[in-house]
Amino acid sequence: MSIMDLKRALEPNRISQGYVYINEIPEIRSGKKGDFMVGRFRCREQEAEFRIWDEPIFKAVRDGGTGVYEAEVVGSSFNGNDYLTVRSIAASVNPEIKKSDFLAAIPRILLEARFREVQAKLSEIGVTDTCWRLINTIIEDPELNGRFMIEGAAVRYHDNIIGGLANHTIKMLNILAAVLENNRELLPNADLFTLAVTVHDIGKVYEYDFLEVSEFWYASHRVRGIEYLTRFADAIIAAYDEAFYRQVQAVIAGHHGNYGDRPTTVAAAIVHYIDTLESQTTRLVQEVKKSDDGRVRDKEWGFLMGLPLGNG
Ligand SMILES: [Fe+2]
Ligand SMILES: [Fe+2]
Repeated sequence: MSIMDLKRALEPNRISQGYVYINEIPEIRSGKKGDFMVGRFRCREQEAEFRIWDEPIFKAVRDGGTGVYEAEVVGSSFNGNDYLTVRSIAASVNPEIKKSDFLAAIPRILLEARFREVQAKLSEIGVTDTCWRLINTIIEDPELNGRFMIEGAAVRYHDNIIGGLANHTIKMLNILAAVLENNRELLPNADLFTLAVTVHDIGKVYEYDFLEVSEFWYASHRVRGIEYLTRFADAIIAAYDEAFYRQVQAVIAGHHGNYGDRPTTVAAAIVHYIDTLESQTTRLVQEVKKSDDGRVRDKEWGFLMGLPLGNG
């Protein structure tokens, strides 16, 4: 048995067997004929919804949680929604099939090169060495175990890939460089914006655990990010002042706009817009790539026609 090709498995009525990976606890819903389970299998860039109609079959997943399973599925479709009906599923006992076999990763060397590039760009605009030194101390602290460069930015939706958190952050720093160049009145705050953007999602190393939701996810990455940053409070205040440190806290707390604590500072509002532009663009590109007919579905706007994409 090998790892299941999810795209092929979705072909109508096709029966497939293979290893599958579940990285999010599936939902149990109530239907006319009793409870059923709805979840998603993931394998690198591929994702497929699955449904399990019988409790004796979904019990294995309800008890086992996230992880690698062996499954037999049938390609199914209802009202234009393609999914896999699971006929049988059991936790994998094959030690040769690992979770990491299912996770896509951005090569570390590429991330480091992109980070250096954006650092050079921002330094030219005026970000100081003091700021880069502090950033380095914060992201390289042994407490994080190097996970700033490893963790995903999300379990679903955007940059849900090994290295996704750093990738999302680096892309935001690139947008920040353009924002600072376009609004030169903001330049005296270049260090503040750069440090705040770099750490805005750093608490995700606690919210997620290698692209699975962690035990203490409910405290949110905003709270955990603020908590983590207290280790560096003295160093940040010594390098700048207390107002700078409080402004960074406000960015972490308020960067989700209406979804979370509302922004209380202009810096938090601007970082929220940069965050939204970056994550939504990445989400749309990912969805166009995955789409069969080129269209993507937006929660508020309905179907959006796609466009031809390059290799990236
Ligand atoms: Fe966030
Ligand atoms: Fe973010």
